[in-house]
This record gives sequence, C-alpha cells and structure tokens, in this order.
Amino acid sequence: MTALDLVITGGTVVTAADSYVADIGIRDGKIVAIGQDLQGDDRIDATGLMVMPGGIDAHVHLDQPTSDGTVMADDFASGTRSAAAGGNTTVLPFAMQVKGRSLRDCVQEYHQKADGKCHTDVSFHLVVTDPTPQVMGQELPALVRDGYTSFKVFMTYDDLVLDDRELLEVFDVARREKALVMVHAEGHDAIKFLTRKLEDEGKTAPFYHGQAHAQIAEREATHRAISHAQLIDVPIVIVHVSGREPMEQIQWARARGLKVHAETCPQYIALTADDLQGLNMDFNGAKYVCSPPPRDADSQAAIWQGLRDGTFDIFSSDHCPFRFDGPADTGKNNPRARTSFKWVPNGIPGVETRLPILFSEGVSKGRITPERFVALTATNPARLYGLYPRKGTIAIGGDADLTLWDPNLTRPIQQQGLNHGCDYTPYEGMQITGWPVRTLLGGRTIAQDGVPVGDAGGSYLSRGTSQAYG
Ligand code: URP
Ligand code: ZN
Ligand code: ZN
Repeated sequence: MTALDLVITGGTVVTAADSYVADIGIRDGKIVAIGQDLQGDDRIDATGLMVMPGGIDAHVHLDQPTSDGTVMADDFASGTRSAAAGGNTTVLPFAMQVKGRSLRDCVQEYHQKADGKCHTDVSFHLVVTDPTPQVMGQELPALVRDGYTSFKVFMTYDDLVLDDRELLEVFDVARREKALVMVHAEGHDAIKFLTRKLEDEGKTAPFYHGQAHAQIAEREATHRAISHAQLIDVPIVIVHVSGREPMEQIQWARARGLKVHAETCPQYIALTADDLQGLNMDFNGAKYVCSPPPRDADSQAAIWQGLRDGTFDIFSSDHCPFRFDGPADTGKNNPRARTSFKWVPNGIPGVETRLPILFSEGVSKGRITPERFVALTATNPARLYGLYPRKGTIAIGGDADLTLWDPNLTRPIQQQGLNHGCDYTPYEGMQITGWPVRTLLGGRTIAQDGVPVGDAGGSYLSRGTSQAYG
C-alpha cells in the first residue's frame, strides 16, 4: 500500500451512526484507511479528542447586496475564515437574483466574489426573486443541471416575496428538475399589518420587531408552504424554524407522509424575545433583530425536543452579519433604524459559533448524543443538499474534511476571539464546554485553536440531487 500522507491517531471517531476509537489515514486529501496502528508521513495525536466530520453550514449569507445599500460584514474571505475557525469545512451561501435581472448573471457575479477567496469549500443555493418566463423556462432548469440543485424562496420581504401563484410555479420547476426548495415561511401581509399597527402606537423600538414577526404569521406561512408542496408533490425544507407553532405544522405534514424537511438555528435555542428588549439608549436590542425572531422558553423547549426526535433534519447558522456601528450610517444602529424597527437590517452573525453552541448546550449538557450532533450539523446537510457521501461523514473514499473537538475545553464566547467581520456577537459571554481545536479540509489544517490557518484553498462544489428525492 502507498504511504499515507497523514494519520490522525487515537481519537474517538464520531459519525451519525456510531462512535469508536480508531486512527484515520489520509492520502491526496481523501480518507483511505480507518483502523489501528496506522503509519504515515505525518501524524496528529487526537488522544482525548473527538474526531468528527467537518461541519457543513447549509445556510449562510456572504457578500449579499441589500435593498438599502447596507454592506454585509462578511465577504467570502472573512466569512469562510470565520467558518473554518468554528469547525466548518463547507458552507452553502446564497446567490441571490436581483429583481429585474438574469439569475445566471447574478450567479456569475457571486462566483467572481468567491473565486480564490474561500478558506472552506463552498457551494451556492440560488434565490429566486423574479420568476420570469425566461428564468423559469430556461435559466433555472439549466442551473439545476449545472449543479445548483437547491433554491430558496421568500414568503415575505418587500423586495423578495413571491405570491402563492409564483411559489407554485417555482415548486413545479423544482419537481421537474429534482431540485430542493428552501422556504422562508413568514406571512408577508400579516407582518405588514402588524408593523403598521405597532408604528401607529409608537412602538418602534427593536423589541417590537419580535411582535411584528409573530409566530402565528410563521405558522400560517409554514402551513401554506406545506399545502403548496403537497399540491405539487415536491419535497421542501422549511428553513430557520423558530418555535413550537411552525413545528406543529411540520409534524402534521410528516404524520401524513409529506416530504417536508426542517432546519433550525442557534438563535432559537440560545436567545429569546427578551434579548430584543434593548429599549435603552444604546439600542442594543437591534443586535438580535433577525427573521423569524427568537421566541420564548416554551419554544426553546420545543426546538430541543425537535432536535432530538428528528423533526429537525439540520441545524444551520443563518449567518447574516451586519455591523452594529457603521460603516457610515448603514449598521444596525443607523439613524433610520432608530425611527422604526422595520429599518434595522435583519440578520445576525453565527457561522463561527453555531457548532460550539450546539455542542455545549446539546452534547455537553446531555440533551443530544454526539452522533445526533454530527447528523444535524454535517451528515444530514450533505444528504439533503447533494454532497453525500463525499462530504458529511467519515468513511473511506470521502474527503478528509475533519474537525477535532476537545469536549472538555471550557471558555466563553467573546467577540474579541472571533474571526468574523461583525463588530459584535449576540452570544457574548456565553459559557461553552466543547470547542473545535483543529479543522482539516482535504487533510490540510485550515484552523487551529480558533485561529484560521493557511491560504484560501477552498473549492467550489457542484452538487448532485438531494436525497429528499429518495
Ligand atoms: O434575519 C435573517 N434571517 N436574515 C437573513 C435572511 C433570511 O431570511 O435568511
Ligand atoms: Zn430566510
Ligand atoms: Zn438566511
């Protein structure tokens, strides 16, 4: 047998199925051996550590233009460095169609933004905002065949929302092309109505964002999306599910055998609506404005149950980073945002803290097993988004994308130690037990002890058909 380039020895290998102590042999960036007493040119001693598949963050926003010109805090360089430091080896950001423009052209622009800059592997989901006959008849089918096998649709936001007829049309193309649709399920009209009412009552602080984006509006849209998917007979993923009410719709659909998948995020286990209460002078509540917003303790408990029982397939960050201050007057703390919550840029950072938060709150506190952690953060994202088995597991023939975890290392999350482009973290001071101490992409170390290492050697991944299609 040809010599191994690298052997990772003595660690506890964790997959979605089981855990065992073994050495992992790597050659040419691939896992080529799993066994005992392996020898190679290089060696990493993982005794006392867990060796897990590199994290796949399937919901990330990087360098995305916004309607009011606010610039995101992370481009593909800083966002993927931050991802690597947080134990990820693949991220799936969005290539968003700008209304009135060709989807294909927009995708090309995202490639230009990403090329040569990525420290992890990367693959784009599409976002369809303008389903013209050209887009639906030609561009979208051709893009799916080119390996962009998933796309997101929005049921709210003035500049992104699709109406029901358009949603059905997009679902229909997805079914024909075997693409997976991700749905942002919040009822646009209900949100607009509530926003106007709150503003009329002078309730304009960030806290009221949580009331305008009511859980009932999320529940209603979730049910509507499920009904549309049932009409078309297409699998969908309801993304960033925030609480008990939309979860019940997903469970209702699953009980009827419908192909409805679900994603949740750190903000729905680690934050609540109270975090938006920054009604004081520092406007701190704006740091927690995201959509859907964090809910209450009851919803947090429901989400944990859903993470355990399989209601949720995947746990992603929905990393959507906007600075609190600046640049110029464009951060969350901008003059217009102070006149109404509706002008606060929606989204919070989290690509670097997603895995530590779930590990600490889930695995270290005994709420989920290490195997379930791997399923939610790597294996299921790979299966759903057409990357399995090259990614998302530890198996011979797969990419040597690995994260070494110290399950006993305890330290708090601190903005000072993070690598993202944001000027704050919503999780400041949160005590974490269990940190990634080394991240390897194709057998090459890309982060160590929370610090990104090496050049931008990540690749763009063309993806296959989702396993949601069986
Ligand atoms: O507030 C959020 N989540 N912003 C990001 C855009 C989205 O809907 O995923
Ligand atoms: Zn969304
Ligand atoms: Zn998002």
